[in-house]
Parts: sequence; C-alpha cells; structure tokens
Amino acid sequence: MSQDTTAASAATSNTGDALENLLHENRRFPPSADFAAHAVIQAGEYEEAAADRPAFWAKQARGLLSWHKDFTETLDWSNPPFAKWFGDGQLNAAYNALDRHVENGLGERVAIYFEGEPGDTRTYTYAQLTEEVKKAANAFESLGVVKGDRVAVYLPMIPEAVITLLACARIGAVHSVVFGGFSADALRSRIDDAEAKLVVTADGTYRRGKPSALKPAVDAALTAPGHTVGHVVVVKRNGENVDWIEGRDLWWDDSVGAASAEHTAVGHDAEHPLFILYTSGTTGRPKGILHTTGGYLTQAAYTHKAVFDLHPETDVYWCTADVGWVTGHTYVAYAPLINGATQLIYEGTPDSPHQGRWWELIEKYKVSILYTAPTAIRTCMKWGREIPSKYDLSSIRVLGSVGEPINPEAWMWYRDVIGANAGGNGEKKENPAPIVDTWWQTETGAQMIAPLPGVTATKPGSAQTPLPGIAVDVVDEMGESVPNGSGGYLVIREPWPAMLRGIWGDEQRYKDTYWSRFDSMYFAGDGAKFDDDGDVWLLGRVDDVMNVSGHRLSTTEIESALVSHPSVAEAAVVGAADETTGQTVVAFVILRGSAVDDPDIVTTLRNHVGKEIGPIAKPKTILVVPELPKTRSGKIMRRLLKDVAEGRDVGDASTLADNSVMQQIADSLKK
Ligand code: WTA
Repeated sequence: MSQDTTAASAATSNTGDALENLLHENRRFPPSADFAAHAVIQAGEYEEAAADRPAFWAKQARGLLSWHKDFTETLDWSNPPFAKWFGDGQLNAAYNALDRHVENGLGERVAIYFEGEPGDTRTYTYAQLTEEVKKAANAFESLGVVKGDRVAVYLPMIPEAVITLLACARIGAVHSVVFGGFSADALRSRIDDAEAKLVVTADGTYRRGKPSALKPAVDAALTAPGHTVGHVVVVKRNGENVDWIEGRDLWWDDSVGAASAEHTAVGHDAEHPLFILYTSGTTGRPKGILHTTGGYLTQAAYTHKAVFDLHPETDVYWCTADVGWVTGHTYVAYAPLINGATQLIYEGTPDSPHQGRWWELIEKYKVSILYTAPTAIRTCMKWGREIPSKYDLSSIRVLGSVGEPINPEAWMWYRDVIGANAGGNGEKKENPAPIVDTWWQTETGAQMIAPLPGVTATKPGSAQTPLPGIAVDVVDEMGESVPNGSGGYLVIREPWPAMLRGIWGDEQRYKDTYWSRFDSMYFAGDGAKFDDDGDVWLLGRVDDVMNVSGHRLSTTEIESALVSHPSVAEAAVVGAADETTGQTVVAFVILRGSAVDDPDIVTTLRNHVGKEIGPIAKPKTILVVPELPKTRSGKIMRRLLKDVAEGRDVGDASTLADNSVMQQIADSLKK
C-alpha cells in the first residue's frame, strides 16, 4: 500500500502558513451572561469528570437513559482494545427514544417535522412515531428478522429512515445504512460483508426537483447469486415505476402499514451490537465500524444535551446530515429522540428550489439549534449574505459545525450572518448565537472535542476542548506528548463510552488500524496542535483519507476503482485543497496502449469511478501522466502529487527512485 510515511509532517507543513495565522487567532467570544445563566452544563462538569471518569459516565448513563436492568460494572478494560461499558446492564434503544417519553406524558410533543424536497410535509408526535416503530418492528420480525440479524438500509432522508433504524434497534437487529449516493457495486459489497438478511429502500427520492431512483441500485446489487437477502421492503416515495420481484419485494405500506401497533420492547445487553456503518480507511476495502448500545447511547445523549445546550421543551433542533453518515445516526436518529427533543428532517438540497430554502425552513419551523458542515456554510457564503439575510432567523440560539475544519472566515460569517440575524430586517442581535465546532469520527461514535456553549469563550477555527470525560492528547512519532504550539498526531488516551467496538468481522484490522501505531492509545488519523491557551486545532488527515464536502473518501479506494478499468495501468489519487468543499479528488493516471488517444477517456474514467463507488467519489480532475513519483521501495509519493494538484512548487523530491519523473509530469501537464 502506498502510504506516505512523512504524511504527518507533510500535512502540517502544507497547512503551515495558514496555521501560523490561525494560531494568532485572538478573537474570543464568551457566552453572554444570559446564555450562561440558563445553560444546562456549567464549568464544574470538567473537574467532576476528571476526578472520576467512569463515575462521571455511569452518572450520565443512569441519568439520561432508562435501563431494563441496571449495570454494576461501568467499564471493563481488562482486555484492551476491547472495551465493555455498562457490560451487565440491559436496555432498549427504541424504548429510550420513544416509549418512555410517551409513558412520561410527552406523547403529544412533536418528535419530527418532516419537509420533503417537493414541499410535502408530515409531523410525527412521540406517540405517533412510537406507533410507527412498533409496526415496523413487527413487520421486520414477520419477515424473519431476529435479534443479531443485519438489515441493510438504503433510504433517502425521510422519516422512514429513522423509523427503520429504531425498529431494528428495538428488536436487536443490527442496521447497516449505506448512503444513497453510493453505487450498486458499493452497496453490494456492504450487503455481502455484513451478510444482511433484509434490505429497506425506497423507489427513489427527489434531487433538485426531479425524481431520483434508489431501488434499481438494490436490484443490481442483488443480481449476483449467493447473497443472504431474503426480502426487500420498499417505501413508495417518488412514485416512479420500479422493477419488482414477487416474493422478495414488499411495499412498506403493505408490510409495515398492515402490521400490529402492539410491540413490547425487551432489554438488550449494553454491549449488544446496535449498528455497523462502513467508512473509508487507508486501504481499498471499506471498514464496517461496529457500535454497541449502552455506551454509544450514553455519549450520544450526553453530548447532544451538553454541546447544543439542549432545552427539549422549547428547542427546535435541525441537523442537516444525511442518515447515510454517522452524524445522521448519532445526531438525527438517536440522540435527539433519546433526549425528547423536537427536530426537523429535510429531504433535499439547500438550493432546491431556491438558494434560500434552508433559511426559509428555519424561519418556518423556528429552528433554534442548527448543526451543519463547513462546506454548506462556505457554499452559502458564495451565494451571498443577502439570501439568508432576507429571512427571520432570530429563533437560532446555537450553531454547530462538523465534518471538517471550519476556517475562521467561514466561522465569522456563520456567526454574523446566521447567528446574529435578528429578524430578516437587517437588525443584528446584541449577543449572536454561540458556535460549537465539534470534532469526532464514525469510530468515536459521538462528539469528542467541542466547546460548551454556556462555558467556553469560543475561538474561530478551533474545536477547542476535549469534552468532559474525554482524554485527548497530541503526540509525536514516538508517542510522546508535544508541547503547546507543536504539531503532531491526535490520540485518545482513555476508552470512551461511544468508542467503536471493532471492525465487523475483522478483529485484527481493528487493532492494527487504531491501536498499533502508539502503545495503549487510539490513533485517530488526524493531525492536531494545541495552541498557547491549550485549545485544540485540527489539521486534517495524516493518512490516505480525504474529506470532500465533509464526506470521507479513501484515496486508495478510488485508486482501486481507477485501475479496475482496462484503460488504466496505474493511478494515484490525492485530495487537493478547495475553498468550498475542503478538498477535491484529483487523480493522476497512466493509461494503457490506445487509451492514450481516446479523447473521452477522462469522462469515461470519471463515470467508471461513479459506477464503482458512487457519484460522490468521482474525481473532479483527472490528469493523464507518463509516470508516477515513487520512492525506491515503490511507494507513490502523494505529497509531491499534492503539490502539483494544488499548484505549488514541488517539495523535496530527493527520495524518488527516478528524479526526472516530476519534470516529466510537469511537461505532460503543460501540453
Ligand atoms: C474530520 C464525521 C476538523 C476529521 C463526524 C475526522 C473534522 C473525520 C471535524 C471523520 C472538525 C470531523 N474539525 N476535522 N470539527 N469533524 N472532522 O468519520 O478528519 O465521516 O477524522 O465523521 O472528519 O469523518 P467521519
């Protein structure tokens, strides 16, 4: 595998200049007196957690969740890196998200406001959502799904996605959501790896006003013999014609719609698997990240309450993430419902049918907490501040950011244009909404580094502080802590409740990927730095993972897709810095034989990647080159290709086996 061993230093040196400016960031925005006075979390929380970390998490587990059977042991770390949290306790995720709120008299509270892309709307109270989930649980059981079985989910951002996840959790089935932007091939490999018994999908969705199909990808994924899928449940969403296999396919309305609304939630072990979510790593094969129940839900609920200062009686919360990503799991399907919040779910893109759609929705539903990605913020910046400024966004109280570093310029725009909007008439709030930049990963399950909005004086561009109960450090190559101001690798020193419990079906890969780089520490794959105040700055990935619009993509996975095309002899992929999307995919390919003369080869290869992985992975740029820069041991030096892709002078090329290669590449690109 072509892993560039100097990646960490490259990552930090590439961002070096920008970082110098960042570290001189001295703007601070303390919470207003009013916000601080009403905040759900106060400063004492850090000390309390530090004094006895397990006791702190045990208190959160009992305070935020209802247990079918209480636990006696908080953490079992006797066999690292395999953790057990609340190991002898039992609980039911769906009961915690639904039934108990109804039992507590909150049945009439709105759980979900749904707005479809075409403008259709639905509202679910907690009582109604509970009923739907019970029906889905009965329907899945009647299709033979039992505790421990895997259910693949390939759905758009509609309430049925949340209902499906909770119905699986209710019966102890393990959901494996595949983002709707992944291709049939990607879906097939995930269905096969997890050996899913059931697939839940929709005929399709809407994309920028037009129907967009989903079921054909499921059909294509299931053409090969030998798969484990018995049934496909299909939500009718856009009404387009679909192929149908009698006996295998069932409409949601016929199966879930006809099922009984009586279903008793039993307790599952705290360490019972809750879901698998595939994510890109440094090799071509996606990893099925495994999360279990008790610890995951504890940290999901705690962080959602603490970081967003959640007041569930009055807040309207909106996380714009798709359920296909971890943010849509933790902060759409689970935490808001566990915490009894009211949330908005929106199916479409921010620019459909017009570029003010998001702000119109915030005005309409009086959204008070918005959680989105820097890419979206930068895109809205490009469209112009006049658009959001026309709408009344005065309901907003807290603004969250996730998925990639947020540059101070975007941070300030978010604060000023969205957070300070006092009613769409150009007036500004005296105290703009605090911004919480949240660092975490599919693997960490829940937020790990973020300010607490009623406590922390926020700082543009920095995720700032490890959350109470979380032990983060920055270390050098040898695993030694580095002083403030020095770059290094982000590690997590102590187990945390929502940590991944493994990689599905591959124990060794779990150890190798996360726990072998440094002794007894979790290696996150990110570069980071503490500044002089001790605030954490995230510096981007130090491995072969790219971040495009907050979507995680693997350079090697895209390289594998490219070389699987008969016209490609060799390929190297890098993430090049991009003002809006954070990074873009740039591919360098060496072609075979006559492909060199094919004028359409670039389009062909882009479509090929789209077919192999999905449209989100299509390289923005494909450069045809005669050679690739390699070390004497044959590793591709992506660092040099990144210099080319980002238009910089090429850095130190002295370790190349053939140092005329960079000149050859430069010459061929000039042509
Ligand atoms: C990056 C998304 C800087 C980081 C929740 C991490 C961030 C990867 C931030 C995980 C942030 C996420 N600041 N970088 N606030 N949040 N990242 O698994 O590189 O899709 O390792 O989880 O996104 O991406 P994933």
